[in-house]
Amino acid sequence: MDPFFLADGLVALQSGALVIIPTETVYGLAADATNPKAIAALYAAKGRPATNPLIVHVADKAAAQRWGMFSETAHKLADAFWPGPLTLVLPMTPEAKEHLAPAVTAGQNTLALRMPQHPLTLAVLRSLPFPLAAPSANLSNQLSPTRIHHLHSDLLAHVAHVWDGGPCIQGLESTIVQVIGDNWALLRHGILTQEDLTTFLKTPPLSATTAAPGQSLRHYAPQHPMILNSTIVGPEDALLAFGPQVPAGGMITRNLSVRGNLNEAAAHLFDALHTLDQWPCQRIVVMPIPEAGVGLAINERLRKGAARATL
Ligand code: TXA
Ligand code: MG
Repeated sequence: MDPFFLADGLVALQSGALVIIPTETVYGLAADATNPKAIAALYAAKGRPATNPLIVHVADKAAAQRWGMFSETAHKLADAFWPGPLTLVLPMTPEAKEHLAPAVTAGQNTLALRMPQHPLTLAVLRSLPFPLAAPSANLSNQLSPTRIHHLHSDLLAHVAHVWDGGPCIQGLESTIVQVIGDNWALLRHGILTQEDLTTFLKTPPLSATTAAPGQSLRHYAPQHPMILNSTIVGPEDALLAFGPQVPAGGMITRNLSVRGNLNEAAAHLFDALHTLDQWPCQRIVVMPIPEAGVGLAINERLRKGAARATL
């Protein structure tokens, strides 16, 4: 990649500023993970609670091994799925405890690590002497951005540089797996599904999904109320459709996948919600989406987005 193309953003990161990076999942708000001031600015820009730790993004497995302790299972997962939409939660190395900004892990003994797939961001990571902490580039609890135009002006006000990498091709945040020795637990559903991981590792996860710290609250939320699993659409409703048979009558419809394909639906989810949310509708009505495979990850986002603010 042309070093001049990267230069402005790299200088910004090296001076402790915040930048926007593209990934295959969603856009990230990135900062030097070893710089406590930069990490404090990142939490402030998002309005993120200090109890919600960040994912550290690295250029390759060798870089990840500086910060996380890899068991055999962790090696297998990284070798098979990196670069890609898988975050590994691992015990921290002594070097991580010494050099990463403490706020990155929000007091956990473990560290979340991910090698993203986007060529631009991989080139950025390879050019830097430090890893990047990067949450999704939305204001805390709001819809994740999968296109540059989804980025909120309140967030951009804190950002020194934006790398436009085009639409995020996968469209849902990474699957989060905690590795505990040779066992694993699923902390967040994603495009890489529990079935995929169970088949690959030949062993099921430790228990039913346990939520990551930042997953328990209302999240991924549009401004309008959302009604899930419904095909009853009024004239003042916006409809988030799925599949070939769509009820008529709404103010606007966006279909996640006319052919009922869950990967296609995942890629379109946040873009469709951003679009519908701009309409002067009363509610966003969401058609049923199968609770299987990638549908688990889509429905997890939708349920949290529909949860009431008081939860
Ligand atoms: O696809 C992604 O993962 C995107 C892109 C930008 O890489 N990033 C992302 O970050 O989704 P964020 O901050 O929006 O979500 C990270 C999740 C949070 O729910 C957080 O609680 C969890 O990861 N997490 C981070 N460190 C953890 C740890 N040590 N143990 C358990 N969960 C952790
Ligand atoms: Mg997020």
